[in-house]
Amino acid sequence: MSGYEWAIGCAQEDIETPALLIDLPAMERNIARMAAFFADKPAKLRPHAKTHKSPVIAQKQLAAGNAVGITCAKLGEAEVMVEGGIHNVLIANQIVGRQKIARLAALARQAEIMVAVDDAANVADLAAAARAAGSSIGVLVEVNIGMNRCGVEPGDPALALARVVAESKGLRFLGLQGYEGHLVMLPNPEERRQKALAAMQTMVDSRRLIESSGLEVKIVSGVGTGTYDVSGTVPGVDEVQAGSYVFMDTKYRSVGIDFEYALTVLATVISRPRPDVAITDAGAKVLSYEFGLPQVKDLPGATLKKLSEEHGTIVFDSPNRELKVGDKVELIVSHGCTTINLHDRYFALRDGRLEAVWPVAARGKSQ
Ligand SMILES: Cc1ncc(COP(=O)(O)O)c(C=O)c1O
Repeated sequence: MSGYEWAIGCAQEDIETPALLIDLPAMERNIARMAAFFADKPAKLRPHAKTHKSPVIAQKQLAAGNAVGITCAKLGEAEVMVEGGIHNVLIANQIVGRQKIARLAALARQAEIMVAVDDAANVADLAAAARAAGSSIGVLVEVNIGMNRCGVEPGDPALALARVVAESKGLRFLGLQGYEGHLVMLPNPEERRQKALAAMQTMVDSRRLIESSGLEVKIVSGVGTGTYDVSGTVPGVDEVQAGSYVFMDTKYRSVGIDFEYALTVLATVISRPRPDVAITDAGAKVLSYEFGLPQVKDLPGATLKKLSEEHGTIVFDSPNRELKVGDKVELIVSHGCTTINLHDRYFALRDGRLEAVWPVAARGKSQ
C-alpha cells in the first residue's frame, strides 16, 4: 500500500509538487533494450539498484531477462532488495565493521549474497561472522582496474587475496569485481572504448592467472552504463552492473549515451517576478546538481539557472508571457542516482495519467 491509491488515474498536472516522475513507457523501453543487448552475449546483466533503490524496478529488470541478479552499493540497500524478494545480490563494495558484518552474515542466510573485498583482515572478519551465523558469504576480490578507488592491484596481489578467501571457512571465493568508473563518462567514444577494453583486460588477465593456479573463477563483474556495449563484450567478463540506463540523465546524454529520458522532477511555478524569470518550488532538496543543473523539458528558451534549497530559478532567452503562476514544469535530472535519493516515492505515469506510486524503498539506506 503506497497511501496514494486514491490518486491512481489522476492527470500528471494534478500531482502535488515537487514530485519524482517516471515515464513508464520510456523506462520499460530502456529496460527491454538493455536486456535485449545481452541476449546473445556471454555476459549477463546484474543491474545496479543504487540508481532506482526500488525492489519493484529491480524485479522488472530481472523479468526482462538476461540478468543474473542485482547489484547494490550498500548493505542497507541489499537488505531492502532481499526484503523485496530479490534472491541474488552482489554488494559491489567492502563491508567493514563488526555490526555491519554481522548484518551481512545474517542476510546471507536469506539469499545468495556476495560482497567485494580488498583486505585480508576484512576477509577474516567476514569468515568469522559467517561461521558464527551459520551462513556462507560469496566473495569477489576487488581489483583496481584504474579508477584508483577500492581494490587490490591486478595480477599477483589479486591472486594472493583470492587464495586467502578460498582458504577461509564460511566464505566462497567466486571471482573478481572491478569497476572502470574513471572511463564510463569519457566524452570521446573511441577513447572510452579503447581504454575500457584495456581496463577490463587487466581484470581478465588476473582471472586467467587465478585460474591457472587451480582456483575456479565463476564470476568477473563490473561495467557501467557508459561502457556496457564495450566492457560487457570482453571475453572473460561475466556480469554488467549498469544502473543509470534505467532512467538516463543529462550527464550520460552529454557523453552520447542514448537511452531515453525516463525520470523528471515535476515542479510548480510559484512566482513570475519578471517577464524572463520563473521561480519553481523544486530546489536543491529535490534535485541534485553535482553533474550540472537539470534541464527544463519542453519549454523552448527556458534554462534552469540556479537552485536554492527550495526554489528553482528558470530564466527565458526572451520575455515569456504564457507561463503562469500555478503552471507545472518538468525538469530532466542531471544525475538520476543522487536525485532519487532525495525523494520518498516515484509517481509512475503512462499517457499522462498516474499508473502507480512506488516507494524509493532504499532511500537513505547508506549504512
Ligand atoms: C561498482 C559500480 N558498478 C557499476 C556502476 C555503474 O553504474 P552506472 O551504470 O550508473 O554508471 C557503478 C556506478 O557508480 C559502480 O560504483
